[in-house]
Amino acid sequence: MATSAIKFFPIILLIILSLPAAMEGCGITVYWGQNGFEGDLTEACDTGFYSHVNIAFLNVFGMGQTPSYNLAGHCLPSPCNVFSPQIDYCQRQGVKVLLSIGGAIGSYGLSDADDARRVAQYIYDNFLGGSAPDRPLGDAVLDGVDFDIESGDAYYEDLALALASYSTPARKVYLAAAPQPIYPDAYLGKAIKTEAFSYIGVQFYNNPSYDYSGGKEALMAAWNKWSSSIPANATLLLGLPASSGAAGSGYIPPENLTSDILPEVKKSSNYGGVMLWSRYEDKDNGYSQKIHPYVCPAAAATKPIGNILDAAAAAAAV
Ligand SMILES: *[C@@H]1O[C@H](CO)[C@@H](O)[C@H](O)[C@H]1NC(C)=O
Ligand SMILES: *[C@@H]1O[C@H](CO)[C@@H](O)[C@H](O)[C@H]1NC(C)=O
Repeated sequence: MATSAIKFFPIILLIILSLPAAMEGCGITVYWGQNGFEGDLTEACDTGFYSHVNIAFLNVFGMGQTPSYNLAGHCLPSPCNVFSPQIDYCQRQGVKVLLSIGGAIGSYGLSDADDARRVAQYIYDNFLGGSAPDRPLGDAVLDGVDFDIESGDAYYEDLALALASYSTPARKVYLAAAPQPIYPDAYLGKAIKTEAFSYIGVQFYNNPSYDYSGGKEALMAAWNKWSSSIPANATLLLGLPASSGAAGSGYIPPENLTSDILPEVKKSSNYGGVMLWSRYEDKDNGYSQKIHPYVCPAAAATKPIGNILDAAAAAAAV
């Protein structure tokens, strides 16, 4: 027994060393915040379906404006800082909580690199590890920032690099991008090239030539283009509507997703899971409930390196 464990140990080490070092696991990311009837964050995180929640949106920023956010009916009449303990709760369950900036409705854009750095400072002070009076979501420290940018096209690379620079060894500032399905993205193309993003969740919807409404081939062609183009240390997420009503096109019925699409996208080495718009439709349609057992390949489940190390340690200890 001991001899065979010693013989296999180098093989296990080889497996560990060949895992991409900076790539971030696999899971389901869900957008939360744009529908007052979707339940709160504690309820979302208690489902156990999600690895990430993006709180949407900080939808006014840059161009010298006072930043402001919109969480639909969630914080009426109580202030949004009621969500602070819920964010802490989600994080204790292992769910990363990000602030999503941008969205389809709002007023945002960056006038120059200094403007980008000022917005980064504002976000750091008000939502991340910095400090400010009256932080909108209270004292909870979010895990990072999701860029759902649908207007303006300049200086987002400066914003990304400025936000990433707030990372410390103790607390990484995670960046996610949610580009449209045409590569390269008109708004985020340059920002993605900075390599500052851990997650690229492409919105494979509202664009039938690049989503499932145009057929599996259209979707897979778009997916493969992204998969072969993004920086080596980013993971790629399949962004989908969580119900047929959640977007104009691109909905994939759960059975079709699990039997036909997930087996294909999982072949990409940078596959990192599924991103859903949004929690309201997901809850209503039971989408994550149906798909979550199929989203992550067993080998890429959360904390793969720890598990393999534990196995190696157990084998070596025999
Ligand atoms: C990806 O690698 C580049 C180059 O080493 C590094 O600058 C960047 O911070 C890394 N990005 C992430 C998200 O880890
Ligand atoms: C889903 O798969 C079924 C069975 O293969 C097929 O008949 C149906 O057309 C598919 N649905 C869509 C929307 O493509």
